[in-house]
Amino acid sequence: LDNRLARTPQMGWNNWNSLGCDVSQQLLVDTADLLIRLGLRDLGYEYVLLDDCWSDGRDENGRIKVDTRRFPQGMKWVAEQLHNAGLLYGMYSSAGHLTCARYEGSLDYEKADAESWASWGVDYLKYDNCYSAGRHGSPEASFNRYKTMGDALKATGRNILYSLCNWGEDYVHYWDTSIANSWRISGDIYDSFTRPDALCSCTEVDPASPWCVAPGSRCSVLTILNRVAPYADRGQPGGWHDLDMLEVGNGGMTDEEYKAHFALWAALKSPLIIGADIRHLSPSALTILNNPAIIAINQDPVGRPATRIWQDVNVPKDRFGVGEIQIWSGPLSGDDQLLILLNAADKDLTMVAELEDIFAHDGPGGSAPQNAEAWDVHDLWSSRMTDSSAAQILQIADQANESQSAEKLSGLLGDWY
Ligand code: DGJ
Repeated sequence: LDNRLARTPQMGWNNWNSLGCDVSQQLLVDTADLLIRLGLRDLGYEYVLLDDCWSDGRDENGRIKVDTRRFPQGMKWVAEQLHNAGLLYGMYSSAGHLTCARYEGSLDYEKADAESWASWGVDYLKYDNCYSAGRHGSPEASFNRYKTMGDALKATGRNILYSLCNWGEDYVHYWDTSIANSWRISGDIYDSFTRPDALCSCTEVDPASPWCVAPGSRCSVLTILNRVAPYADRGQPGGWHDLDMLEVGNGGMTDEEYKAHFALWAALKSPLIIGADIRHLSPSALTILNNPAIIAINQDPVGRPATRIWQDVNVPKDRFGVGEIQIWSGPLSGDDQLLILLNAADKDLTMVAELEDIFAHDGPGGSAPQNAEAWDVHDLWSSRMTDSSAAQILQIADQANESQSAEKLSGLLGDWY
């Protein structure tokens, strides 16, 4: 979408993966504070995104009402707090009559809701796909539901990043560059690298249509990767494949798996949205999320997602009976080329990537000099902060005196960046 937003994939935090409906204004304000104290805002994590469960029906004029038990000061106040902290505010709704957690949806109220968000100072909308009131039906019907909201956002005059969440349905990757800044390509991510995906596709089908009205919620990292692989290169500045919020820090994967998850999301130019409760972040999770080299891959101005150049599924399987090897590559600015060797097999293996293969798959816009005689090779995980530095940062961020913590923090971060 050509609204000057998301020229590189958006970065931020969202409550859903770790906290679900347990939302409040205090959570958002505390998270904002921590994003700053942990140095994450300055690394680019700038959107604080509130997911489902914040509303409380509609008033007699059809205006959506905020749940004042959870948000006593209202959303304009929240937006102001975030803006004063140098952050941006994102909210959520669904292109149906209900959201997935059965709160008020925006179908047929697009104009009113877009106006509410704009008047509150909202900078970002995540627009879900649940309970579309029989108006799923065809790719055109879905496109229209999403375009109606896009038009309503535009009509407000406020520039709002538009992030679609229709789980990769209705050929979304072919229609969304025109109307949205990002679009989900699968059901909900699950905190597992390889667990099989029987429940990835759908959890509730509308018997009348029959279309999916609630998404699957068991998509492993590998499942999502394999889903996006055939059309990964369609992501571009202004419109990105959204591989879903990150699970880094939520506890279900090993450190190595989280590293691979983060690096792949970065390389495929997915939005990088932290999905952990950062009030309880582990040092090792922080050292993954704050790796400046991997973030730079994601934010590279060339904006070309890595593509898969090789895959082998006939390898030793893990405890879930899943295992494979993949090689991904893509061009970066400054004559650099990215290479990811993913060993998701249950065995140490030697993997070989030929330069020829890397360049054979390099489409237009590539910048790597193919005839170079020699290449410098850098392991981007070598710039990872140590766990003990991360532990110190987490401890300092916990201290009450803000200016003291800011000073110590900048000293510590200065050692790294
Ligand atoms: C389904 C979406 O895919 C999730 O990311 C989350 O927004 C939930 N709905 C909220 O109900």
